[in-house]
Amino acid sequence: MTGWYRLVAPLLARIDAETAHRMAINALRAGLVPADRGGDDPILATTAWGRPFPNPIGLAAGFDKNAEVPDAMLRSGFGFVEIGTVTPRPQIGNDRPRLFRLAEDHGVVNRMGFPGEGLEAVVRRLKARPRVGLVGVNVGANKDSADRAADYAACVAAAAPWADYLVCNVSSPNTPGLRDLQGRGDLLRLLTGARAARGQHDDVPLLVKIAPDLSEGDVEDVAGAAVEAGIDGMIVGNTTVSRPASLRSPRRTESGGLSGAPLLDLSTAVLKRAARAVQGRLKLVGCGGVATGADAYAKIRAGATLVQLYTALVFEGPGLVRTIKAELAALLKQDGFSSLSQAVGADL
Ligand SMILES: Cc1cc2nc3c(=O)[nH]c(=O)nc-3n(C[C@H](O)[C@H](O)[C@H](O)COP(=O)(O)O)c2cc1C
Repeated sequence: MTGWYRLVAPLLARIDAETAHRMAINALRAGLVPADRGGDDPILATTAWGRPFPNPIGLAAGFDKNAEVPDAMLRSGFGFVEIGTVTPRPQIGNDRPRLFRLAEDHGVVNRMGFPGEGLEAVVRRLKARPRVGLVGVNVGANKDSADRAADYAACVAAAAPWADYLVCNVSSPNTPGLRDLQGRGDLLRLLTGARAARGQHDDVPLLVKIAPDLSEGDVEDVAGAAVEAGIDGMIVGNTTVSRPASLRSPRRTESGGLSGAPLLDLSTAVLKRAARAVQGRLKLVGCGGVATGADAYAKIRAGATLVQLYTALVFEGPGLVRTIKAELAALLKQDGFSSLSQAVGADL
């Protein structure tokens, strides 16, 4: 935890988690969060889908659902930022409270249910921003949608001109039935439709984000569908509906998706399974429980080209990104790698 966040953290911890999150977004909008002016170690530079990433550490979806602060988050040192999940129409999401800190476990449970301003407002913001730095757009379906696949296609079509990559999120546990879209047949149809919806922007990489709760066979099915649909990447993964026995916080019984430290090992194991299944045919993004350079390094060695995090920021503040990058660069050098890409899949 860096200096100024050490002062702010105890105050934020006493405020309702969603209110604290809104305060963080407002502070970022007001330019109150310091930028990372250090520049990245060249060993962290990498390329995915023909795009150069200054470092592999990205902000996961859910922090900036409405594209209010992607540039402020890029300035804080992330190599890329994913906004969303964006749904076609605005929706309010589930009743509050719906976001809980599990402080003893360095975890969070959320059952937000895709609250958001909707596609039009988000696209308006994306159009207005400078195209500097890599911003991905994560899309989903409205809760009351009659045709979920059409929702994904509509979001992809509208966002593609303004996105550096697109993600179909079929793994949120907080929209009833959404995760059923991970079945092979449904997923193939959904991804084929989303791919076509990019229209003339068919060079924008398309990814799918999966749940860490898939069985081994399900991971193979999803990977098969993703490869068959001809998409470009997979994010492994979203929050888990499981509750490890090690959890100590009284909030562990809240329903919703668990993220943060208790998710690390599960999500890295599923990532490894996905890497074995896709055999290099898609690029993988490792997400779940990353809080240190060693955690990020484990994801890369398990097959991730890029890494994302969200929950660790809640406990450590934005200075964490700089620390993770420094630790990761040191680990790569210590093991004799001269570039990040050499370490991808080293444990497979
Ligand atoms: C409060 C909260 C909201 C989230 N909202 C979304 C979302 O809208 N779309 C999505 O794909 N993932 C969402 N996620 C999941 C994260 O992107 C990420 O996959 C998950 O939290 C695991 O990473 P972490 O342990 O680093 O947080 C959310 C996570 C949290 C904690």
